[in-house]
Order: sequence, then C-alpha cells, then structure tokens
Amino acid sequence: MTIAVDAERLALEIEELAAFSDAEPPAVTRVVFSDQDLRARAWLKARCAQAGLTIREDAVGNTFVRWKGLQPDLPAVATGSHIDAIPHAGKFDGVVGVLGGLEAIRALQQSDFRPERSIELIQFTAEEPTRFGVGCIGSRLLCGVLGPEADEKLSGDDGETLRTVRTRAGFSGGLASVRLSRSHYAAFVELHIEQGPILEREGIPIGIVTNIAAPASLFVIFEGQGGHAGGVLMPDRHDALCAAAELITRIESLAKNTGSTDTVATVGICEVHPGAINSIPSRVRLGVDLRDTDGERRDEVLRGTMAAVREIAQMRKLQIETRMLNADEPAISAPEIVAIIERACEQESLKSRRIVARAYHDSSFMAQIAPMAMIFIPCRGGVSHRPDEYAAPEDIVAGVRVLAHTLADLSRAH
Ligand code: GLV
Ligand code: MN
Ligand code: MN
Repeated sequence: MTIAVDAERLALEIEELAAFSDAEPPAVTRVVFSDQDLRARAWLKARCAQAGLTIREDAVGNTFVRWKGLQPDLPAVATGSHIDAIPHAGKFDGVVGVLGGLEAIRALQQSDFRPERSIELIQFTAEEPTRFGVGCIGSRLLCGVLGPEADEKLSGDDGETLRTVRTRAGFSGGLASVRLSRSHYAAFVELHIEQGPILEREGIPIGIVTNIAAPASLFVIFEGQGGHAGGVLMPDRHDALCAAAELITRIESLAKNTGSTDTVATVGICEVHPGAINSIPSRVRLGVDLRDTDGERRDEVLRGTMAAVREIAQMRKLQIETRMLNADEPAISAPEIVAIIERACEQESLKSRRIVARAYHDSSFMAQIAPMAMIFIPCRGGVSHRPDEYAAPEDIVAGVRVLAHTLADLSRAH
C-alpha cells in the first residue's frame, strides 16, 4: 500500500500549532488549560473535523478523534500524544505524535484503505508536569493509576485545584468517568521524537521502543534559619541552601554509582527563600527527578536520596519535609507490535533499530490497559525541551509512514 503523506500540509500544521504559544518564537510555551492551550485544542479539533473524524472529549480534556472502522464494535487501535509544552520548549515534543497521527489517518483515507477496527487519535491532557507537578495526568486517569481524588489533590503553584482549572476550561463531569477498561483498545502506538542523540548519531531514521524508563519525582524542603549575612557567624548558621547544595551533589553521586548509565538524576528546581544576597537562606525547595530502566535500581537511588536528606538535616540541624509526586513502573513494549513496526520499516525500506525511551510518555500508562509500542524519529543533536528542538521534515514523514502502516496492520480484525 502506498502511503500518501502530505508533507507540506503537515509541516505547515506544525508551524501553525507552534504559534499558539506564550513565548516568543522559536520558543513554545503552552501550559495545559492556558488560553493558548485552549486555542490550540480548538484549532486541532477543527482540523480533525475537516478530515471527517468524530470527536469526543472526556472530563479531563483528553480528546479522542475516531475514524470509524467497518467493525466499530471491536476494540479500536489508538495512536496519539500531547500538545502541551513546557516553558520555553520547542515545536516537536508531543506535537509530532498528534499531528503525525492525524496525517497518518488522512494518508490512509487517501489510499482508500478501510480499517476493520476503528482507528483513534488521542490528544492527552497534561503530559507535562508544568502546571500540576505531575505529568501524564490524562493518561494516568485513563488507565486508573490516578483516581478521582486527583481533582482536589492536584493543584498548581497558584493554589487552584485541577477541578477548578478544568471546569473553567469547559471540562466538567466526574473524573471517574475518564477511566477506560482493559478491553477498550486493541493496541496503542505513539510516534515521538527521540529526545536523545542515538538515531541521529547512527544515521537511523526509525527507533522502535522496547521499554520506557521508570520515572520518580519528589519535592524536598529544607527549613533552616535565616538572618543577616553579616551578623550571623558561621558556627551559628543553619543555612538551608548549603544543605540543599550538599544534597544535590549526593544525589548526583548516587545516580553515577549504580553501575549503570541507565540511572539518571536531576534536580531541576531550587527555590531559595528569601532570595536576597545579604540574607541567609532560611528555606529551600528542591524538585528531584530520578529515572531508570530498572525500577528496583531507581528505588535504590530513591531510598539513598531519602537517607541523605535525613542525614544532612540532622547534621545541620534543619527541619525537613518531603513530598513524593510519583514513582512509576517501567513500561515494556508489546513484542507483537514491535514486530509489526519492524515490518512497516521494511515495507518503507527504512532502517530501524530497537531503542529505550528515557523520557516518559503517555505510552508508559497506556501500556497498563493495552499492548503498546512507540516509534521514535531522530531530533537534531538529541535536543529537546529547548526552543532549538528540531526534527527534519523527511524524518517526520518517515515516522508518519511507518505509523500509518502499523495502524493499518493493527486495525485488521484477525
Ligand atoms: C516528559 O517530557 C518527560 O519529562 O520525560
Ligand atoms: Mn516533554
Ligand atoms: Mn513528549
């Protein structure tokens, strides 16, 4: 089957979507349920409606765009990703999977293919943790890892709860209704940029994800004693930032010493109170992100981190508070879908290799309710979560072709 991808239309749509942003181009900032996010959602729905697809939105704003199959009662095959973007991000993270998924469906329509199972494109709410601290809110609720308590439990820095924000954005109804059963989908496949350097370095256009690393994140707060930077002598200090500095390097060592380069640790948030040059820091909040392909090894680092927090606080006589945000399991791709993607690459004469996903994705959670796999395409320099994130049009088109073949294959009733 020839897959007629409209490369020009797709490239244009990626640009159009990037314009819904709270940052100056080329940066993209599109935080979930912001005005720009809501405008982007409306724009996307209009594109989907133009393609003759039917649209459903759930209580948290996950959007399901369905191409009805010849046997609509069978579990559907799904693809999709996210369109929210962290502050100062690029144009491609998530977007390639959503607009690429739409283009794959349109290309299949063009080639007169008629699916037996319905094919569904999903735009997941809040894959990024920017607003509510936790990522993949839509897919977590969808697979039941997160329950209706999220409505009150999750809130932003402004104190507004998920319930308040989603209701204002026009998404009402109980969150319990978001959950889907294990028989709802026959399969889920996500197209995404690699967000790492391997494919580009090896000159391979397609990566087939075999497993997704297990992420965990937490906040650590050190509460010490502030005071005048001149007046308080060193032996009398309980400096919260010095404690935080010690913890940051301890976490780095813990991750470096597991014996595997699959362990990674990042402290990406460090808020210092009161934040004045002549005032001893009295309170510091750190945001810690730990990941590993091996969940047990990740948990070792997590236990080591907790022990270091207690030890440092004791030595420096500080108060501590820790808040776990999430500690998720690694996800494993379904071998049968990996094989189907491999076949699709052969059909398109595209080289492929198996690869590990080190960022997290909605696929991590979809794996709990459906057989899952991911298709990666290269991104320049492995760069992501930056305005200079870039994926070449020909690589995006290759990914869409492979996705289209894969969806077509999976949509057969067998
Ligand atoms: C999602 O973008 C992540 O942090 O992996
Ligand atoms: Mn991201
Ligand atoms: Mn992403």
